[in-house]
Order: sequence, then C-alpha cells, then structure tokens
Amino acid sequence: ENMLISTRSQMSSDGKFFSDVVIEGLAPDGGLYVPKKVFPKLEPTEWLRISSMPYAMRAVAILENCIHPMDVSPVELSTMVHRAYGQNFANQSVVPLKHLTDHQYILELFHGPTASFKDLALQSMPQLTGVLVFFPEKGVSEIHKLQMTGFQEGNAKSISVLSDFDFCQRSIKRMFGDSSLMGHLAVKYAMVLSTANSINWARLLPQVVYHCSAYMDLLRNRTLTFGDPIDVCIPTGNFGNTMSALYAKQMGIPIRKVICASNHNCIISDFIASGEYDLRNRKLLVSNSPATDTLERFIHHVSGGDGSLVRDLFLSLERDHFFLSIRDFTLHNKLLLDDNITIY
Ligand SMILES: *Cc1c(COP(=O)(O)O)cnc(C)c1O
Ligand SMILES: *[C@@H]1O[C@H](CO)[C@@H](O)[C@H](O)[C@H]1NC(C)=O
Ligand SMILES: *[C@@H]1O[C@H](CO)[C@@H](O)[C@H](O)[C@H]1NC(C)=O
Repeated sequence: ENMLISTRSQMSSDGKFFSDVVIEGLAPDGGLYVPKKVFPKLEPTEWLRISSMPYAMRAVAILENCIHPMDVSPVELSTMVHRAYGQNFANQSVVPLKHLTDHQYILELFHGPTASFKDLALQSMPQLTGVLVFFPEKGVSEIHKLQMTGFQEGNAKSISVLSDFDFCQRSIKRMFGDSSLMGHLAVKYAMVLSTANSINWARLLPQVVYHCSAYMDLLRNRTLTFGDPIDVCIPTGNFGNTMSALYAKQMGIPIRKVICASNHNCIISDFIASGEYDLRNRKLLVSNSPATDTLERFIHHVSGGDGSLVRDLFLSLERDHFFLSIRDFTLHNKLLLDDNITIY
C-alpha cells in the first residue's frame, strides 16, 4: 500500500516509502518514482466529507491516503501540512477558485510567498528536509529575488550565486556527481543531498491536492453534485501539473478531459498530438530538461506500468534525442482514448 517504484522497474519490484524517495529524488536506475499501484480511490461520501474542510485539512485527508502511516504518521503529516499552508499564503483559501464566465473557473495558484504554483509543494518539503535554493544573481527579476531572499525561515534558505543559470545548474550537477563531497557530507554531517525539482515525488504529490480541491469547492456550494464531470485546462510546459490532474482522476475526481495548453515551447503537446518525441531540432536540447523528466511518469502510466518499455524509450531518447515506434503509436492512441487528452 502506498509504496513507490521506479518508472523503469517492473511492477513486481519492492516498493519504497515516501520519505525515502523524497531524499533520493531520482531512482538509482535513472527512472522517476511513481506509485506501485494506482492511486487509492476515495468514495463519493468521503469526497463530500472532505469538501467541507479548509484547504490544509483537505490536504491532510487526501495525503493520508497516499503516504503510508508507518512512514509519516498522521500526526506528523498534519503538523507538516498545517505549517506549510497555515501562515504562508496571502489568501486564506490557499488556492481560491474564481468564477470566470459561464461554466468556467480559474484556480489561483499564486498566493504563496514566491507567487508560483511551486509554493504548494515547496512549502511542505522543508518540513521533511532542509532546503537550499540557489539562484543566479543575473537571472531572476528584482521582485523574485526579494521574494526568495526575504523568506529565510526555519530550514529553507536562498543563496544568490554571482553568475548565470547555467553555472548554477552545472555546479549543482557537479556537486551531485562528486562522490567525495557526498561522502564527506554523509560522514561529517549525516546529510544526504537530493533535488527539489519536479522529478521529485514530493513536488508532484501536493499538486494532486489542488486539483481535487477545485472540484470540492464546487461540490461544497452545490454548483456540482458528485459525479458531474469537469474538464481541466492546464498550461503545459512541464508535464507535472497535467500528470497530477491525471492522478486526481485516479483518486476519483470525475475529470473528463485534460486539455494541454501550451505556448510555442510545446514539446509535450507536440508529442501528445503526434506520438513523436523529437528533441533533435529543439533549442532546449538538454536530455534532462524538466519536461522530459516528468513525461516519463506519463509514459509509465499509459503503458500500464511497463518498466522495460519506459527504459527502452528513454534510453533511446538519451542516445538519439528521439523516439517513435509502432509500440509508441499504440501507446499514443491509448493515451488519447483513456485519458481524454486534448491539445489547445
Ligand atoms: C518551476 C518552473 C518550471 C520548471 O519546473 P520544475 O518543476 O522545476 O521542473 C517551468 N516553468 C515555470 C513557470 C516554473 O515556475
Ligand atoms: C481570496 O481570493 C479570492 C479569489 O480571487 C478573492 O475573491 C478573495 O477576496 C481573496 N481573499 C482574501 C482575504 O484576499
Ligand atoms: C461556488 O464557488 C465558486 C468558486 O469559489 C464561486 O465562483 C461560485 O460563485 C459559487 N457558487 C455559488 C452558487 O455560490
């Protein structure tokens, strides 16, 4: 129950606990962590019960179903979640749902300290681990810099690096690849380093909560009755947000259509439209770009947990910057049918 496995391993492999995969980040075989089984499905009565709660309690009620109690106890979980969402958000609804027009609503994910959807996850991660944010002095706006440096509480700290983004990225990678540094930190400080980008399961899981929460807002005031379908339209650069909507659907939220909206930087939506994943003529040619990374969870999901297929596809992506095969096409059609994904 609630164990996690690598996207590149077989279903039969042993699962790991949430707190272990938060520390590990990437799985040792290069894959990403995903639930060993599908997400736990909640009953309609349970959704109705949760919908009467404020956001932090909704988050606890949902996450309790996704994290083994022997790993993070319900009391610890509740403390962490309330600390994360208690005082740090400018709006007491945390992620208020606002009526746009007719049957359209918009979920406001910008009320956290850095005005980014990331706050929903990053406010809870420091509760589990210490967090150090490195940012390039010459690469963030003045206001973003003030937001990051102004927030120096508890075990979250920001450090300005007198260089650009590439230097930060390269240096962090070098630190991770330096086994003598890792050994030193482990022996001297009993410390293990991990990354907090969206390859980390702890970044994705809190995002499932806000999709559920939006539906519950409409349940609570009887705009919807449980079971009424909704479509979600998600700005899709990085597939994490979309993936978390698919997980919300697995948990029982009646999501009908997932619409991937993107700007010209549209590798993921091109893939969904064509079944072809081609990094060869793209500017962002780094094989470990965030989008590439999180897509791996999706491929695992639509292939019914076929770890060797995922491994083959992503190894060929690293080698050729491209994948497409008959099997991929089958996969592609299946994903469009099963998950009802549309491009906008
Ligand atoms: C954080 C962020 C990304 C990258 O997301 P990761 O989850 O770190 O991979 C992309 N676009 C925007 C606007 C972001 O804020
Ligand atoms: C919270 O956000 C909603 C939606 O934008 C807004 O109507 C409400 O006034 C906000 N509340 C506070 C306290 O800012
Ligand atoms: C229900 O909640 C939504 C989202 O907060 C709001 O926009 C809508 O006006 C509410 N509807 C009613 C009938 O109160």
